[in-house]
Amino acid sequence: MPIAVVPLSEAHRHFKGSKKVIQTTLPLAAKPASRPALSPNGGSTSARNELFARFASRIRIDYDLTRRLVSYQGNKSTPGFRWMKYKEGFSTRLVERLLNIGGGDRVLDPFSGIGTTALTASRMGKSATGIEIMPIGNLAAGAISAVANGLSSGTLTDASARLLRHIESGEADEKRRFPHVRITRGAFSQQAEEEIARARTFIAGLSDTFLATVLEFACMTVIEEVSYTRKDGQYLRWDPRSGRTNSTRLDKGPLPTLGSALKRRLDQIIADIPAVKRTHGGPSPELIGGSCLTELRNLEEGAFDTVITSPPYANRYDYTRTYALELAFLGYDEQAFKGLRQALLSATVENRSKRDELSEIYGGSDSLSRIFEMVDANAALAEVLTILRAHADELGNRNVIGLLLHYFTEMAVVIAELARVVAPGGHVFMVNDNVRYHGEEAPVDLILSDFAEQLGFRCKTIWALPRGKGNSSQQMGRFGRQEIRKCVYHWQRM
Ligand SMILES: C[S@@+](CC[C@H](N)C(=O)[O-])C[C@H]1O[C@@H](n2cnc3c(N)ncnc32)[C@H](O)[C@@H]1O
Repeated sequence: MPIAVVPLSEAHRHFKGSKKVIQTTLPLAAKPASRPALSPNGGSTSARNELFARFASRIRIDYDLTRRLVSYQGNKSTPGFRWMKYKEGFSTRLVERLLNIGGGDRVLDPFSGIGTTALTASRMGKSATGIEIMPIGNLAAGAISAVANGLSSGTLTDASARLLRHIESGEADEKRRFPHVRITRGAFSQQAEEEIARARTFIAGLSDTFLATVLEFACMTVIEEVSYTRKDGQYLRWDPRSGRTNSTRLDKGPLPTLGSALKRRLDQIIADIPAVKRTHGGPSPELIGGSCLTELRNLEEGAFDTVITSPPYANRYDYTRTYALELAFLGYDEQAFKGLRQALLSATVENRSKRDELSEIYGGSDSLSRIFEMVDANAALAEVLTILRAHADELGNRNVIGLLLHYFTEMAVVIAELARVVAPGGHVFMVNDNVRYHGEEAPVDLILSDFAEQLGFRCKTIWALPRGKGNSSQQMGRFGRQEIRKCVYHWQRM
């Protein structure tokens, strides 16, 4: 990958937004005194500055790392991946680039999403494994695989026509009605409810599992389109027709019927079949459903050469809320929602500590205790947590303190497991964003790279995107405009 080496003065711009530092052309390592002495809240930044100084020569701004490459946008016209808008994904082109750097035949993604890494690696002739906790991701990856390997164009065309006829005039089994949970109630018109029930009845009656997977997936990708709600960043916004009282801000206008939205999707899938067979035909990746915190345990030592992954960011984003409609469609009830929310890597204010649970999974091993000690001893993390604790009363939600501690603890466990399953000389590439709470930056890239170095990797490079992420308007009002780094880290197993 061609890397535009960038003067450190530029890289500094991405750290805490200090204007003073932009002007210096000397590496921070050589001139630590030029860092601001105090944090926006009056606390110390020395531990973070020290950590930055340690990694400064390895942070590069890579002008080729565009948002398009690092986000799902790059997949918008890619057959297979374009069937579902999974905004949390990265592009197949990014995976290709990183695989060309990492090489090796055995590829893993422990946070697999819709399987971009696993499917791209498989297509490149590698043996690939993905672990994903949300059934949505594996259903999408499974549908792409099913189209590539198990389904003929004729079978899908015929079944699609029968499904669309059934939606128009078939029976609806009472048991197949959309299984609403609190956060999905009011999402559909009566007509849409009826059509969804008919579609679910038809799919439940299919014996061909490949076909059932693809049709269920196709329905799942259009239920938002036919609903009174829409994903909007962290939340769902609601059209007043949903009957929700605080829902006046979204006007979705005339909605398509399920039949018409589904027909468009199925036509797209059918049109993509030859391309998907060409690119993804052949060995399918292994897609493991479950949490990588438990599933990585079952993988053999040294079993992989390259990991390409993007964990959830520590930014309060709640996958279970964003994908509430899809999860309910797949049968998640209130209990299952709660369970999934807690089992996901901690990134929301609702997550509780998993330390006890991890101790059980890892059988109270010494190495786990050492991982917890490593997290607790991390000076940069402690610095952020101390400041946030001192300002707990001013935080919008004081659980962000727990969020950060849980996030770094769980990521440390994941990194330790990666150090076990990646063979010596193997590579880890990780896409992640830094975060900022109450004006305090948690340099996720530096803290995780520090963990990685303590756990058996060498951090080779932290590639930063040319443009970081702006802070929220609330934080901007209080602390001024500050960009935080969006990065791809490259670690090599020693
Ligand atoms: C940033 S997305 C990765 C998207 C992926 N790179 C792609 O292209 O589709 C993070 C993923 O991690 C998953 N996840 C969260 N906690 C997990 C856990 N404990 N184990 C496995 N996957 C998890 C989320 O459901 C989400 O799909």
